[in-house]
Amino acid sequence: MPVSNRIAALRPEIEAWRRALHAEPELLYDVTDTAAFVSARLTEFGCDAVVTGIGRTGVVGLIHGRDGAGGPMIGLRADMDALPIVEETGLEHASRRPGAMHACGHDGHMAMLLGAAKGLAETRGFSGTVALIFQPAEEGGAGGKAMIEDGLFERFPVTHVYGMHNLPGLPVGKFGMRHGAIMASTDEFVITLKGRGSHAAMPHRSADPILAGAALVQALQAIVSRNTDPLKSLVVSVTQFHGGYAHNVIPETAEVSGTVRALDTGMRDLAEHRIREIAAGIAAAHGLTAAIDWDRNYPVTVNDGAESDFCAEVAMDIVGPANVDANAPPLLAGEDFSYMLEAKPGAYVFVGNGDSSGLHTATYDFCDEALVYGSSFWVRLVERALPLR
Ligand code: NI
Repeated sequence: MPVSNRIAALRPEIEAWRRALHAEPELLYDVTDTAAFVSARLTEFGCDAVVTGIGRTGVVGLIHGRDGAGGPMIGLRADMDALPIVEETGLEHASRRPGAMHACGHDGHMAMLLGAAKGLAETRGFSGTVALIFQPAEEGGAGGKAMIEDGLFERFPVTHVYGMHNLPGLPVGKFGMRHGAIMASTDEFVITLKGRGSHAAMPHRSADPILAGAALVQALQAIVSRNTDPLKSLVVSVTQFHGGYAHNVIPETAEVSGTVRALDTGMRDLAEHRIREIAAGIAAAHGLTAAIDWDRNYPVTVNDGAESDFCAEVAMDIVGPANVDANAPPLLAGEDFSYMLEAKPGAYVFVGNGDSSGLHTATYDFCDEALVYGSSFWVRLVERALPLR
């Protein structure tokens, strides 16, 4: 079965939703217009229930199969929020909201899930219930976690949950997934070095946080090069170094911040442990103190092996085995679908976005050619996971 005929026929409509959503991006939890658009479409399609306000602005639509309510329930998830980027695509459907942009393709993710919802609500070629989960605040706000804490899985007791993200560089019409870790944990740290300020011409009276900070940035590089098993993956990136305000003043404090990305909890813990040790050690060596503010952010996104294989089979049904990489390389970016996969078995898959600009750039656009593949994948997944009795 290639791309579903019904989905192919819906393509102009799905594309119009995608472009409408793209033009009106909203950030984090403030996705009220987006959530209203999504719930209006779900209601129009004849969903059996549309529930709003879960995790503040999340939306869940329910579609029962041919036998009505009862039977198993599965969850399909899309994210709704945009990024604080000024769009530079110059496209007709470009953002009309300055400083906000769908630069991660969540417009496409919503449109693909809406396309599937419309198709599934018409045909109902399954037995059981599908929960269409639209979450806010994927981009750093942990909206998926907020929905779970608001009782998502108690109110909608799904047995499995699935997520999909577009991937620039993967050709359109191709899918990728893998067993185990597919996206990284994302932790953030701020190290405040507190020394003693002085006249720049009397450095012996200072405890210089600029010199200690420079040594610290260098020393942190040794965590990946000297503490990490070369066969494992870890990123320690220092991305900010703030200190000082005048040519002739040694300041009292400096701030070094950055991010840690890992594909397993062991590496994640190792990085935190070593960063704390090195910061304290470098500070002591320079006669100052280091205070660390550690933000343990999104966990590793871990696919269940059997569910990843199941998604690969579903994708092969649509695009054939040659276009599915069941052992795709993981990304060291983060994803708060990780919280849903900690709560329920399931998998997260990539759908090709072709030769587009990269995610989170001002020239990125979701590729409309990919819409039918994503929607067909969702429809087929539901038909296979919840076969007609
Ligand atoms: Ni994203």
